[in-house]
Amino acid sequence: AKYTIVDQDTCIACGACAIAAPDLFDYDDEGISFGLLDNNKGITPVVDEEMIDELEDAYESCPSNSIQMSDEPFSSEKEEAS
Ligand code: F3S
Repeated sequence: AKYTIVDQDTCIACGACAIAAPDLFDYDDEGISFGLLDNNKGITPVVDEEMIDELEDAYESCPSNSIQMSDEPFSSEKEEAS
């Protein structure tokens, strides 16, 4: 599984991520991206192979490297069940 979170401090609202991975990312009112699965908490695993492919496309297409991707959840808090 992969985990993803958008670094909203560096996102420049380019929009490539949600085109590459519309199931995983969307934009707020200012065009800043956020993770759809868990409101950009980075704690919900992406397990589906096609979704992981989309995630990798988004990761590679972001010009400011704001799409972060990891094998581990990004939050240290235990809030998986919330
Ligand atoms: Fe922002 Fe990168 Fe997406 S700049 S809108 S996270 S492609």
